[in-house]
Amino acid sequence: MTLGDEAQAGGTMRAALLDRFGDASGLRIGTAPVPTPVLSEVLVRVMAAGVNPLDTSTRAGDGAAAAVGGFPVVLGSDFSGVVVAAPYERFDLQPGDEVYGVSSAPRGSGSFAELVAVPPHHLAAKPKVLTHAEAAAVPLAALTAWGAVVELARAHAGQRILVHAGAGGVGHFAVQIAAYFGATVVATASAGNADWVRSLGASEVVDYHERPFEEALRPVDVVIDLVGDRHDHVGPRSLAVLRPGGLLVTLPSTGWPTLAADAAAAGVRATKYRMVPDSTTLTVLARLVTSGDLQVSVQEVFPFERIADAQRLLESGHVRGKVVVQVSDY
Ligand SMILES: NC(=O)c1ccc[n+]([C@@H]2O[C@H](COP(=O)([O-])OP(=O)(O)OC[C@H]3O[C@@H](n4cnc5c(N)ncnc54)[C@H](OP(=O)(O)O)[C@@H]3O)[C@@H](O)[C@H]2O)c1
Repeated sequence: MTLGDEAQAGGTMRAALLDRFGDASGLRIGTAPVPTPVLSEVLVRVMAAGVNPLDTSTRAGDGAAAAVGGFPVVLGSDFSGVVVAAPYERFDLQPGDEVYGVSSAPRGSGSFAELVAVPPHHLAAKPKVLTHAEAAAVPLAALTAWGAVVELARAHAGQRILVHAGAGGVGHFAVQIAAYFGATVVATASAGNADWVRSLGASEVVDYHERPFEEALRPVDVVIDLVGDRHDHVGPRSLAVLRPGGLLVTLPSTGWPTLAADAAAAGVRATKYRMVPDSTTLTVLARLVTSGDLQVSVQEVFPFERIADAQRLLESGHVRGKVVVQVSDY
């Protein structure tokens, strides 16, 4: 393994450290040990990191908090950066190559740090047409959208798919991917985002503030539920807009313990979904980005020192697209 000078085992790096579960004020920039790659892990210099609900919920003591082994902990779920050390000489991605991918945080090393160590199937070559800040916005959200829309819903022409929160991080990718595969896409969003979500491929956008979506919509074949049962019972209310036998895929990781029974009572199918890191899909997503078939929207890029503000913005619940922190200069 060829380690760059800056990443020698036993060295330290700048990282966003969390000393306790709680609000964003518990984050501070400090130093942490450089992560030691294990087996075929790749060591990556992080240029930019996406901010995801998984980061904020885990920081707050929910999400994946049970996997936190101790404090201080470095969170951060996805990144764009440059390979510092490859696991072996003939590995596809070598030092100096630009990559993007998802981390193993919080059990493994997180991307809110100058260096992250990730298994080989967690990353792929970064789309060259994107800056690091744009590329960092893609991995977790777009892999999630792909898994729900393509792998579970099998999006295709003739299908009507409702995407809740079509203007958000996962939603703006889900709308585009469903439309790419020929489905008719309906989305929920605030009025101010409606034209933009239409431009991404939705043929109909319902302003969920103005009227209940279930009163506005004809039946759909699939619901991609990015809101769940915590806010306005969006998930449970969605069962009523599915045609008999239709499929609801719900993404929020907590809540809705009666999902299976509620779906059975409504005569529809329902499943949760969990994002699966996959380098092949990351490569496909990079091609779609490069061909112009998948747009990436970043509402704001924060300097690393303002990671707490970046998380607060995400927690406002009304980000358009993604929020990113720039970790290193490039
Ligand atoms: N299971 C997994 O593997 C996985 C992976 C990623 C994310 N998730 C979960 O998926 C959910 C969405 O993630 P995300 O990254 O897309 O979040 P996000 O970017 O924070 O979502 C923000 C969007 O939510 C919309 N929104 C808020 N309340 C809404 C409502 N009642 N109806 C419709 N839209 C509403 C807002 O739209 P307007 O501003 O237009 O109102 C905003 O654009 C989260 O619960 C997250 O934890 C799960």
